[in-house]
Amino acid sequence: MKVPESYRNREQTYVKHQLLRAYLERLFMIIGQSQRIVRYVDCFSGPWNEQDKNFHDTSIGISLGIMHKCQDGLKRMGKNVRFQALFIEKNKRAFGKLEAYLSASTSPDVITTARNGEFYDLRANILNWCGQDDFTFFFVDPKGWKKVVEISTLEPFLRRPNSEFLINFMYDFLLRTHTQDPFQEDMRAIFGDVPDTAGMAPKQKEAYLINLYRSRLKKIAPFGGGIPRAAHVPIFYPLRDRTLYHLVYLTRHAKGIVVFMEESEKLELVQRRARDQAKQESRESRTGQLELFSSSNVIQPEKRIDLEEVKSYWLSKLSARSLRFGIDELAGMIEDTGWFESDFQAAFGELSDQGTVENLDDKTKRRRRKYVHFDAHHNQGEHLIRLKS
Ligand SMILES: C[S@@+](CC[C@H](N)C(=O)[O-])C[C@H]1O[C@@H](n2cnc3c(N)ncnc32)[C@H](O)[C@@H]1O
Repeated sequence: MKVPESYRNREQTYVKHQLLRAYLERLFMIIGQSQRIVRYVDCFSGPWNEQDKNFHDTSIGISLGIMHKCQDGLKRMGKNVRFQALFIEKNKRAFGKLEAYLSASTSPDVITTARNGEFYDLRANILNWCGQDDFTFFFVDPKGWKKVVEISTLEPFLRRPNSEFLINFMYDFLLRTHTQDPFQEDMRAIFGDVPDTAGMAPKQKEAYLINLYRSRLKKIAPFGGGIPRAAHVPIFYPLRDRTLYHLVYLTRHAKGIVVFMEESEKLELVQRRARDQAKQESRESRTGQLELFSSSNVIQPEKRIDLEEVKSYWLSKLSARSLRFGIDELAGMIEDTGWFESDFQAAFGELSDQGTVENLDDKTKRRRRKYVHFDAHHNQGEHLIRLKS
């Protein structure tokens, strides 16, 4: 699918919105099975750079559309779920547009509220609006980091039970500033210390910084609920082959990590297509020549990881004594490595064909690329064994 015209020259926003749309829909449909009220907080809502008068290219329009869609879907399943959304915006002009949009699209099905002001100052007010018990999803999508992504700023939210977060981590900015003297205080607030990345290759540096931030987020234990878990997905510059930011996802549900990463995997193709299209359009405007083949028709699958590495990882997890691998274990493996479930499935399949491992619970062998059913037996999974080294 082509990137809509309204996202021209900001294809990274299109990719971000596609993830938000896909993940929120899956999340709300899952959460709506067990909760009567679902809350959504857009902590830096905009509208910002919107081109579409109906806000279809903003997180505001997208999230509200998904809430309505999920409410209908849940109703058809006999579930009556109330959705409540809160939008925070500092800029007066943007806030005016936000208010006008919300009042023109009021509906008894999704209750919306907007507040004008600094996120930092409104924190207690936001938490008050959320109350203690309802499930709440926080979207934290600022332009910078000050009084935003530092752990101390987010701490009151991280402590709240029954909450999930999607945080825009301005990676490229932090990469450029983390070694500079004037930013050392900021780095301490974000990473706990000034990160020492001297001597690291670019990929190593990226993994180090993002994992450091993730592990600091997870250290703030919530009052109640499961252990914090995190994953992330990189969003690239449209025209340059480097990361612009990461979307960091934080949850206390193993299933959340699995579903988030399924949507991240689908996003890879969306992102590749969007960037190829942007690059093609940029070439065409430079040369004045239209290219014969549209970039969206010639996308090749990309080799992301070395399956041998995934196989070695599996072998390090398995032993001659059978062990159960369910959703908890899968979430842990995803968190550890950043690989997708499909990578683990493919690697297990190869090991199984080689006679190195066996799934003791998979007697049918009707596989279709699923060699381990992590969600079987109420998410407890299946018994796996290592036959030889
Ligand atoms: C990156 S834009 C948000 C884009 C939006 N989430 C989307 O995806 O369509 C960030 C927004 O946050 C607002 N903003 C910046 N600093 C803020 C602050 N301290 N508190 C609240 N809003 C702020 C900006 O005016 C801008 O509209």
